Amino acid sequence: MLQGKHIVLGITGSIAAYKAAYLLRLLVKKGAEVQVVMTPAAKEFITPVTLSPLSGKPVVSEFFAANDGQWHSHVDLGLWADAMLIAPATAASIGKMAHGVADNMLITTYLSMKAPVFVSPAMDLDMYKHPSTQANLKLLQSYGNHIIEPGFGELASGLEGKGRMEEPEAIVEYLEQYFAQVAEMSGKRVLITAGPTYEKIDPVRFIGNYSSGKMAYALAGECARRGAEVCLISGPVQLETPAGNIQRIDIESADEMYEACMKEFPTCDVGILCAAVADFKPICVADQKIKRGAEDLCIQLTPNQDIAAALGRIKTADQKLIGFALETHNEMSNAQNKLQKKNLDAIVLNSLQDKGAGFRHDTNKVSIISATETLDYPLKHKQEVARDIVDYLLNNLHLN
Ligand code: PMT
Repeated sequence: MLQGKHIVLGITGSIAAYKAAYLLRLLVKKGAEVQVVMTPAAKEFITPVTLSPLSGKPVVSEFFAANDGQWHSHVDLGLWADAMLIAPATAASIGKMAHGVADNMLITTYLSMKAPVFVSPAMDLDMYKHPSTQANLKLLQSYGNHIIEPGFGELASGLEGKGRMEEPEAIVEYLEQYFAQVAEMSGKRVLITAGPTYEKIDPVRFIGNYSSGKMAYALAGECARRGAEVCLISGPVQLETPAGNIQRIDIESADEMYEACMKEFPTCDVGILCAAVADFKPICVADQKIKRGAEDLCIQLTPNQDIAAALGRIKTADQKLIGFALETHNEMSNAQNKLQKKNLDAIVLNSLQDKGAGFRHDTNKVSIISATETLDYPLKHKQEVARDIVDYLLNNLHLN
């Protein structure tokens, strides 16, 4: 999986930098072409003279070469790489990456990187546990970076705990798995609905809900990362479209989402219906702003089309349809009813009873329910939840 891959190996100033030489050797043995980029502090722990023969390339550390003033282009490295791996990553470098402090070649390369980034932290247990480090790691995750969790064990300080850089063999395996997954959905087209819908009351007001689109956008990013072509039909959200082959269609109302889904679904292999679609819309939309008066105001509502049920009716034997159920009570039975009534292959249940789950959070806690099984997952970052859902689609629903 690593044969011919271009990998930028970033090394920062940690005692674990000695493991980087072995890591580099393993990557090269797997057929990867590796460019080492070191921070000035990393050179205190391991010298470029050790690393450049192993990679077969001069190590890059400064913005300009000392002998002839030649500029080292972090932009070119960002375009060249298929992946950037920062191992070991110190608390200081993680903080700089999280906040864009571009004061060395490694951080500028990171900021220019077009390819996926893998971060393998290494530090003492208290530094790792510190809320600042944890918050910075969360920020990196929210940028789509992959964190390779450090291990437990004896640390350079003599203390024992979590903070040891993951072993080189395990890091290489992580990268191999990543590149294997990238090919899993190639040739597949996936429709994903996202965000809230707005149902107009008058030119300045609407009925809406709290959906931020985070869960759906994480799913879109994950499907694209695994090689799928994604059609993202999105209600109004404040999110950037994730990287990859994603066609985004912006809509506002449930009617517009319905039209777009009915048009796109026949050419898709999968539909993942994550949008919080308004179940009702006002019967009449005032063409001027409704003025305040002394009387109560009644707005009569009529049901919107059920998009999931409509897609469930036209679904072919080769297509898979995954819905979501957002519940506040009787969660399991409500979700099972929706699974059946909408003719879904699986439904992802999230409950507002669970702290950190549902609307707006970066995290979610879900159960994936099909006709034959229910799998419960712990609270996780929405990107990890997206990974679990896509794994389920590939492994349990047997997408052809
Ligand atoms: O966007 P975030 O802030 O990240 O929050 C994520 C989320 C909570 C919105 C998401 O995880 C979620 O649960 N989405 C579905 C919300 C919802 O509307 O659930 P529901 O139980 O009301 O609907 C059941 C299913 O039918 C859903 O797949 C929904 O998209 C679909 N539906 C509902 C109504 C309708 N008129 N048409 C539909 O297609």
